[in-house]
Amino acid sequence: MKLLLLPGDGIGPEVLAEVRRVIDGLNAHHGLGLNVENGDIGGASLDRHGTPLAPHVLEMAKASDAVLMGAVGGPKWQGVSYELRPEQGLLNLRKGLGLYANLRPALCFPALADASTLKREVIDGLDILFVRELIGGVYFGEPRGIETLPDGTKRGFNTQSYTTPEIERVARMAFDLARQREGRVCSVEKANVMESGLLWRETVTALHARDYGDVALSHMYADNCAMQLVRDPRQFDVILTDNLFGDILSDAAAMLTGSLGMLPSAALGEPGMPGLYEPIHGSAPDIAGKGIANPCAAILSLAMALRYQLGRPDLADLTEKAVSDVLDAGYRTGDLLGGEDTRLVGTEGMGRAITERLSA
Ligand code: IPM
Ligand code: MG
Repeated sequence: MKLLLLPGDGIGPEVLAEVRRVIDGLNAHHGLGLNVENGDIGGASLDRHGTPLAPHVLEMAKASDAVLMGAVGGPKWQGVSYELRPEQGLLNLRKGLGLYANLRPALCFPALADASTLKREVIDGLDILFVRELIGGVYFGEPRGIETLPDGTKRGFNTQSYTTPEIERVARMAFDLARQREGRVCSVEKANVMESGLLWRETVTALHARDYGDVALSHMYADNCAMQLVRDPRQFDVILTDNLFGDILSDAAAMLTGSLGMLPSAALGEPGMPGLYEPIHGSAPDIAGKGIANPCAAILSLAMALRYQLGRPDLADLTEKAVSDVLDAGYRTGDLLGGEDTRLVGTEGMGRAITERLSA
């Protein structure tokens, strides 16, 4: 099995170094036999190859069983044109691999219930799975651009668009995953103001009636969903939504779990395609290079790869348990607030503690 590591920018390289440590532990003590390669993406790639995703790196990704990315972006590349932005490297990789479904579990570890800005009784036991459409919608819609109008002012525009097949394939993924959970899907859009949202609702409803009668389906407007996520997040099982709403709502949900530094994700496409696994926290330029970033989201992303793609769900369980145990033992990176009897550690300290648990 071959895993491509793309450290990228900001805290990406630091957290992926800890993923590497965990892989070494799993290879040495649990017969994982995973071969690791490294590649460039984002600003790091722009600096080295003049593009945020070089063609040879996309080829390396296609030839791997799975890809694990750190993060992309940072103030250094803020002025760069859109086609060359670090973020474009990630978007091109998602598109190039056809990764249409982004799974983002928002799970509250018991030890972290007090690290959330919400009250423990609201989030204790939280377990939501976001299924976000990843290669359509306003992120990719054409036409897009900034044009100058006759009066000299400008107009910036993007296109939100979804086709029936684009909606159906990601909805199928959500329904299938719901069957392995509590069997409830909440589909989120703005059908009250957007045609693409109306088509989304109609398509999901028809697919449900046709093939998924055993799953409970509800619909919600995205603004209401944002409110419900902070009011009573445990009402949700699977949330199915589009690219932009999924980006926003999953960040909000991440904070419910205690820290953005805890949430992994998996981007999946057609069977046989490598998936892209990444922490959802981004490059965090303010703390990059300080050795204080939380590596848990990246390590949990590895666990998702082990489960969904590398054929080792047993080691996925083991890795998740190691993270949970280390948190129970009081280890905390700086992003995880409070709690009694806790021990503040850096990126490496957290990675070592998790690896030690795994190797024991
Ligand atoms: C995410 C990120 C990306 C997105 C950026 C870095 C392009 O925010 O994965 O949530 O908007 O999809
Ligand atoms: Mg985001």
